[in-house]
Amino acid sequence: MNDLDSLVGAAQQSFAASGTPADLENAKAQFLGKSGRMTELMKGMAQLSPDEKKSRGAAINLAKQAIEAALTARRQALADAELNAQLHAEALDVTLPGRQRGQGGLHPVSLTLERIESIFGSMGFEVADGPEIETDWFNFTALNTPEDHPARSMHDTFYLEGGSEHAPHLLRTHTSPMQIRHAIAHVKRHRAAIDAGQPMPEIRVIAPGRTYRVDSDATHSPMFHQCEGLWIGENVSFKDLKYIFTAFCRTFFETDDLVLRFRPSFFPFTEPSAEIDIQFPSGPLAGRWLEVAGSGQVHPNVVRNMGLDPERFIGFAFGMGFDRLTMLRYGVNDLRLFFDGDIRFLSQFQ
Ligand code: PHE
Repeated sequence: MNDLDSLVGAAQQSFAASGTPADLENAKAQFLGKSGRMTELMKGMAQLSPDEKKSRGAAINLAKQAIEAALTARRQALADAELNAQLHAEALDVTLPGRQRGQGGLHPVSLTLERIESIFGSMGFEVADGPEIETDWFNFTALNTPEDHPARSMHDTFYLEGGSEHAPHLLRTHTSPMQIRHAIAHVKRHRAAIDAGQPMPEIRVIAPGRTYRVDSDATHSPMFHQCEGLWIGENVSFKDLKYIFTAFCRTFFETDDLVLRFRPSFFPFTEPSAEIDIQFPSGPLAGRWLEVAGSGQVHPNVVRNMGLDPERFIGFAFGMGFDRLTMLRYGVNDLRLFFDGDIRFLSQFQ
């Protein structure tokens, strides 16, 4: 074996032993680099005669070509191996089931809200919305609630900084201030007709939203939801309240056998007043009276604060806690579950 053959053999071996592209480039430098073994051979040609140069040169060229071919082949082999490894590492198993992004759904209390709005909507009620931060005038005073009423105490109500001594700001304790806000806006729009003794389009509205009281246990949360109802006209009576509320409850709970009871009660802003209880004829809650709302005929002082003459205008109001309705409808026994944000609980309502 001549020196060129053994050089080619050594290069082939060295390339084959290079496991990475970087190793291969180092090996290449040893043979084909500026001070590599091939360059050394070329330098050695200087002493040869012209004839010898010719044949030696041709032989060296052949050897160089062989080494370059070996290099190219090894480069390609390493590149292929790398690609294969990558393909293997990033392999997709197309037979796996697809991964889906979870679909959101409505919160159970929102589902109740939608039901309430659609049922009262079908009975001709508008839906109104108002501020959760109130002044004590809208929350208490305009609703005929005297200065010394216990609901006004710090133990029951979240007062806020700001406002003034005579007009403190607070988180509304019920949705009843919306009776006043909505009625005042309505009356303002129809003032001229009212004053001229012409008929006023009736006020028929529900106002759902968040309410706040200093209260916290399995059936009370400092934040809870209420829905106010108000119907004012010239000829609206308790009879209408009974009819409307009964129709609502039976539709909401999808049973015509639901029984309602109007139990005498007291609210400063209604007279007479009643708590509304319901009873299911069958099922796990059968036979128990369950309180769902406060109600009553709107007090003349409140009608006056709406900007209307209580001798001419009359009506009823009610306020129901719809977290409670949601608990009854779905058989949930702890109110706090609604507000903990636990996806295992919430996802059951989709
Ligand atoms: N606002 C009362 C409460 O929170 C409920 C109510 C509303 C009572 C309207 C009568 C009329 O308890």
